[in-house]
Amino acid sequence: MYRSRTCGELSLKHQNEMVTLAGWVQSLRDFGKLTFLDLRDRYGITQVVFNTEENENLYQEAHGLNREFVIQVKGEVRERENKNLNNPTGEIEIKAVELTILNPSEIPPFTIIDETDGSEELRLKYRYLDLRRPKMNKLLVGRAKLFSVMRRYLDSRDFLEIETPILIKSTPEGARDFLVPSRIQHGSFYALPQSPQILKQILMVSGADRYYQIVKCFRDEDFRGDRQPEFTQLDCEMSFVEQEDVLTTFEGLVKEVYQEMMGINDIEISRMIYADAIKFYGSDKPDLRFDCKIIEISSHIPNSEFPVFNQAISNGGIVSGIVAPNGAFYTRKQIDAAIDFVKESNRGLQGLVWIRYNEEGWKSSVDKFYTSEQVQEMGKQLGMNKGDLAFLAADKTSKVQKSLGDLRLKLAKENGWIDENKWSILWVMDFPLFEQDEETGETHFVHHPFCMPHQDDIQYLESDPMRVRGQLYDLVINGNEILSGSIRIHQKELQDRIFKILGLSEEEKTDKFGFMLNAFQYGAPPHGGCAFGIDRWLMLMLGGDTIRDVIPFPKASNGKDMMMNAPTYVDNNQLVELGIEVVKKEDDCSTL
Ligand code: AMO
Repeated sequence: MYRSRTCGELSLKHQNEMVTLAGWVQSLRDFGKLTFLDLRDRYGITQVVFNTEENENLYQEAHGLNREFVIQVKGEVRERENKNLNNPTGEIEIKAVELTILNPSEIPPFTIIDETDGSEELRLKYRYLDLRRPKMNKLLVGRAKLFSVMRRYLDSRDFLEIETPILIKSTPEGARDFLVPSRIQHGSFYALPQSPQILKQILMVSGADRYYQIVKCFRDEDFRGDRQPEFTQLDCEMSFVEQEDVLTTFEGLVKEVYQEMMGINDIEISRMIYADAIKFYGSDKPDLRFDCKIIEISSHIPNSEFPVFNQAISNGGIVSGIVAPNGAFYTRKQIDAAIDFVKESNRGLQGLVWIRYNEEGWKSSVDKFYTSEQVQEMGKQLGMNKGDLAFLAADKTSKVQKSLGDLRLKLAKENGWIDENKWSILWVMDFPLFEQDEETGETHFVHHPFCMPHQDDIQYLESDPMRVRGQLYDLVINGNEILSGSIRIHQKELQDRIFKILGLSEEEKTDKFGFMLNAFQYGAPPHGGCAFGIDRWLMLMLGGDTIRDVIPFPKASNGKDMMMNAPTYVDNNQLVELGIEVVKKEDDCSTL
């Protein structure tokens, strides 16, 4: 028997018990006659004491130890003189009587404590050491707990956990596929699933009725802090449901998760239509932990010669603003930073107008064009109070909304408007079904081509596709898209109309989706579902800075697995077998 207890479970009630613990040496402190050792395992840290006067040999053995040695210690539980109430085992210590070194260790390249000195690169390279840190260990425990809460919730509601294959056919789903060459079928490739979307719909045709899977998805897309090329979804699908059935089922799951994971009862989940999210927050994933709505005042602009406002409106655009509470104290530098921010190329505004209201009255950057009364009129339309500063933007509607939406978030972060103890959880609903490529004018699907249009909008499919709303919903938590889903099309005729609008020829249809369309000819039930991005959700609940923090073995931001050093070149024989020749790209600047 290696151990009788773990390093996290002993307390005063175990006093005088003879125990055997096993774990890693976290630290050693030598005080002459006494040596204190912190022993760590997954469950916690327990202090062990070696006393030179009582047991010289043992004391000497303890001196041969070093950080991260794996040891076994036998000893008696006793009350500590100096208690550490921050540690759950801090009221006791083990008076050692026996010590066995199970395995020595090299000196680790960084300290295995929460506030470690290791850079992220180093920690990813030595992920097994990083995961030993109590903080990271908690993440593993939290992740496993989330899986178990989700499984329990779904299992008790007749959902079946069903696996779907990892080697599948390449189908268009929005991102680039990772491809796997086939050795047997020379020249052909499998794709790794971007999600089990089509397969779960086929499972509905097969009568599975309620499906779920905690599943890896693979997307070869550009990196961001909240994206990984390989990530995990809780993927779900239900038959004979309408949108409301899906929303209530998963509201229940979200509530259960917050109850179990965070100890929060009956967490609030609100709803907002996409059009309002864009109008008031300039984003399809608004963060409602603070207010600061975008307010349009186009129809309240006083008469003046100010060309920027006048032109925006005559060109069919808008004038809108946001109010920074207590912003009247912002410095010139802060105001300039806000203006530079909206001018950045992804936002593209020409600038911002500001209005300030303080003890001295109303002041603005356009006092040349508007009287004080007119400035005040605009300020009142925006709902300004004394002490506030407003930023106004005038341009194309989408540009104004996006820029002010981004600025709202930037100001919130910089000025501490976000209450970190608050949760903003909402469904964003009624997304448009299609979007138009600004450059090519082509029509694309917003989510995937199987989303059911809103019943009221089916009539506009051909005449005005951009106004067609889909039965599409996202769950947005603290400004992050955590879930996406929709009711699916189950009738062939409607699916054909959608493919036609997307410009898919008969051949493309058959080539890309033939197997699914075939299946759908044999009695597809009405169905719908959704998928949670588990890593993103965990990042919010467990407090990671990026999703890398909550994934046991993540890729670094350059897409590499630093521990295994993947991807790497492979042996030429392997390539020959697959019939693949690697051609060096001219612009190849990879450092692989
Ligand atoms: P979607 O593509 O929106 O929908 O993905 C669902 C959720 O998965 C998370 N997510 C990611 N997380 C980490 N890294 C990534 N690269 C990444 N991409 C997406 C997000 C997102 O909301 N089949 C549909 C779901 C459905 O309609 O049922 C789908 O995959 O949190």
